[in-house]
Amino acid sequence: MLFPHFVFAEDKPLMKAIVAHEYGAPDVLKVEEVPRPEPNEDEALVRVIASSVNPADPLTLSGKYAREFGTHLPLIPGYDIAGIVEKTGANVTKLKVGDAVYGYPNFGGGWADYVTVKEFEVAAKPKSLNFVESAAVPMGALTAWQALVDVAKLQPGQTVLIHGGSGGVGSFAIQIAKARGARVIATASTTNQDLLKQLGADVAVDYTKTKFEDVAKDVDAVLDPIGKETLARSYNVIKKGGIVMSLVARPDPAELEKHGIRGAGISVHPDAEDLAEIAQLIDAGKIKPIVTQVLPLNEAIAAQQQAATHHTRGKVVIRIAEEPKG
Ligand SMILES: NC(=O)c1ccc[n+]([C@@H]2O[C@H](COP(=O)([O-])OP(=O)(O)OC[C@H]3O[C@@H](n4cnc5c(N)ncnc54)[C@H](OP(=O)(O)O)[C@@H]3O)[C@@H](O)[C@H]2O)c1
Repeated sequence: MLFPHFVFAEDKPLMKAIVAHEYGAPDVLKVEEVPRPEPNEDEALVRVIASSVNPADPLTLSGKYAREFGTHLPLIPGYDIAGIVEKTGANVTKLKVGDAVYGYPNFGGGWADYVTVKEFEVAAKPKSLNFVESAAVPMGALTAWQALVDVAKLQPGQTVLIHGGSGGVGSFAIQIAKARGARVIATASTTNQDLLKQLGADVAVDYTKTKFEDVAKDVDAVLDPIGKETLARSYNVIKKGGIVMSLVARPDPAELEKHGIRGAGISVHPDAEDLAEIAQLIDAGKIKPIVTQVLPLNEAIAAQQQAATHHTRGKVVIRIAEEPKG
């Protein structure tokens, strides 16, 4: 993942944005009026109606990705967007002015009135959702999709253990696994047991009361958004030939060999085709986002603190503009 250098040209119309001029804690973020970005030839300018909050936001802001991927300042967070195409570059072929789109700009920038995107980063927004609901989908659902469908190739009748099933990724993972005909065991704390069941989990495990190993045995796949002890204990519940996928660590090769299983570290990427398939499942009523809070743009700064706790239920959405009429 690479991050853009937002160049604030002086002669462009202004827009509202959340901006960091230095790395650090969420309080380095400021609500500012900055020049609107101009799309390059292979980009479209999107008027953002809504964005959302991800644990990746505080990580980006901390400067972690500056060392790993060369992040540049100033920085506008926001990896999820739903909005309307306002302008297209000369080499853009699929997107048209006025299209309602949703997606994951690889470089962030969604916490602003406008963002530029490449065609592979967005798809037509689900018709059955409004913009606020659509903005809750891209990063969480893409991560779950790319792990369960692209990497694990989950099959009907297989059993998957989904840790953190109530979170931004897990809430989509449960529904995607069910839509593919798998049996789902999901974990969360006591307060989120109702949500695991509502999302379709066959077995809901309260990790504060029950060891998941006592319930999950010989599973085909594990999705791990937690790491550390949760990942270390997960190797024991996977059948030979099964797979463990972690969102936060590289599975230990010695453990994989010992148990005769496969492992993958997942790194989500924007993908217009995946977004289109996810939109189809949403419009077919098989997946829905769990929006637990809708905040105005200036509260996005405080929302970063919540994201860093890793105890979000579903998704927190940032409303940037009113829903368009019609
Ligand atoms: N590698 C990638 O490409 C990628 C992509 C997306 C996300 N991620 C990472 O994946 C992690 C999860 O992302 P997210 O958006 O789903 O986060 P999130 O919305 O904060 O959700 C985390 C969920 O985990 C649950 N949880 C916390 N501790 C747990 C434990 N010990 N056992 C089981 N469940 C536990 C929480 O439920 P309770 O409140 O009930 O505990 C919460 O619902 C983050 O670290 C994020 O940075 C990585």
